[in-house]
Amino acid sequence: MTVVLSGIQSSGRLHLGNYFGAIRQHVALQQEPGEHLYFIADYHALTSSRDPAELRDNAREVALTYLALGLDPARATLFRQSDVPEVCELAWLLACVTSMGLLERAHSYKDKVAKGLKPNVGLFTYPVLMAADILAYGSTVVPVGKDQQQHVEMTQDIAQSFNHLYGPCLTVPQPRIPSEEHLAKVPGVDGEKMSKSYGNSIWIFEEGKLLKNAVNRITTDSRPPEEPKDPSSVLLLRFLELFLPADEFAQWCERVRAGGAGAPGYGHLKLRLIEAIEATFGPARARRKHLLENPAEVERVLAEGGTHARAQARATVDRCYRACGLR
Ligand code: TYM
Repeated sequence: MTVVLSGIQSSGRLHLGNYFGAIRQHVALQQEPGEHLYFIADYHALTSSRDPAELRDNAREVALTYLALGLDPARATLFRQSDVPEVCELAWLLACVTSMGLLERAHSYKDKVAKGLKPNVGLFTYPVLMAADILAYGSTVVPVGKDQQQHVEMTQDIAQSFNHLYGPCLTVPQPRIPSEEHLAKVPGVDGEKMSKSYGNSIWIFEEGKLLKNAVNRITTDSRPPEEPKDPSSVLLLRFLELFLPADEFAQWCERVRAGGAGAPGYGHLKLRLIEAIEATFGPARARRKHLLENPAEVERVLAEGGTHARAQARATVDRCYRACGLR
């Protein structure tokens, strides 16, 4: 059976990269046959979060975001990672078959350290806990953005090591990355990968003046509108590509490439982008506000999801305990 699973860290408000790289696919995939599991990675968020109230708020925000954007609890299980403590048990079993070298090669860890972050042990062993998340439910498909591909590949290695030592206990999953580069790695306002921790993101539900300010932060240059430009050198177009139908996007590119009197200035592109963001997320923004006023509804979804997910994880952990000699 197909088991689709993915998770999002509760380390801040979710941004356009989370939407186009992950959530949009998650919502689309729930229509397909199979089991669908999505969770709020709050254990993972503890590798950087130090404020209990903020961690709780961020976890609720991930749930609101998923539900507002169309995740249907009747089709997909939504739960908090920490409601399934079995993943920590499984992570220990997996840690004992994972080489230091594998973890030392993790890009995400190396990038964070290179950016000056003082790493804790949790950050270093992050991919092992992520492997436990994936393997606990027998996941076959893991839809994520490009930046998480290596972590899913490490999960494959870890599952294979465990199975090699103890027999076929764990299902080896496949990553599923959006096939188009602009969706798999959405840029931030500075042109680097959009990320909560780089301060270059645009919140999915930003509106009004704050949305205008966010779009104004997208890097431009001093070239005048009339100057013909290579569309790939205009960051605003990379944002528009996320939202516009292909034919309209091609027309904007053509006008930028041609230059001259009819070419749009950066101000025009920004206005079109704001309009497109409003049109894409306006209805979901209204649903989010409704859910914000109904916290009990959100809590009920998470509690039911947690109970369902936990039973599955327990069965996997018990099987692995028996296989490695703990029972
Ligand atoms: P996180 O919270 O950093 O990101 C959540 C999802 O959003 C995708 N994403 C992006 N996609 C395209 N462009 C971007 N700029 C961009 N930024 C983020 C991520 O690839 C991801 O799919 N380790 C995970 C959470 C996790 C998990 C798991 C995921 C924990 N356990 C098990 C899958 C399976 C993370 O920190 O994602």
